[in-house]
Amino acid sequence: MPVVWKPEYEVGIESVDEQHKHLVSLINKLEEAKAHENENEVIHDIFYELVDYTKYHFSEEEKFLKSFEYENLMVHKAQHKVLVKQIVDILNGLKKGEYEVGEKLTLMLQNWLIKHVLKHDKIYANKYLGN
Ligand SMILES: [Fe+2]
Repeated sequence: MPVVWKPEYEVGIESVDEQHKHLVSLINKLEEAKAHENENEVIHDIFYELVDYTKYHFSEEEKFLKSFEYENLMVHKAQHKVLVKQIVDILNGLKKGEYEVGEKLTLMLQNWLIKHVLKHDKIYANKYLGN
């Protein structure tokens, strides 16, 4: 099942929300790729894009956090590092055929992203927005 974006996932900062939505759309694209003729090739392409975009998004987010001197920047950065490692591990597993693209992987990616967004990104967003 595709990940359905919910308003509760929004942190309230437009540029950040747009990037999070793009990550979700890449996760959804992976599942759609199953129907494709060149399935493996398409899946790898999307996954590389997901890894790339994740790195881009995290570096943008870190720049933003630095710009308002977020006091937990180092901790947040460390969490991003763990998340990148997890997704690179999944990519390597895919290459070795350890993962199948389907419900389980989507759920894994959903948890990987949504948990961070809901828990940790919301903390800095609330701080920034003064909530
Ligand atoms: Fe983050």
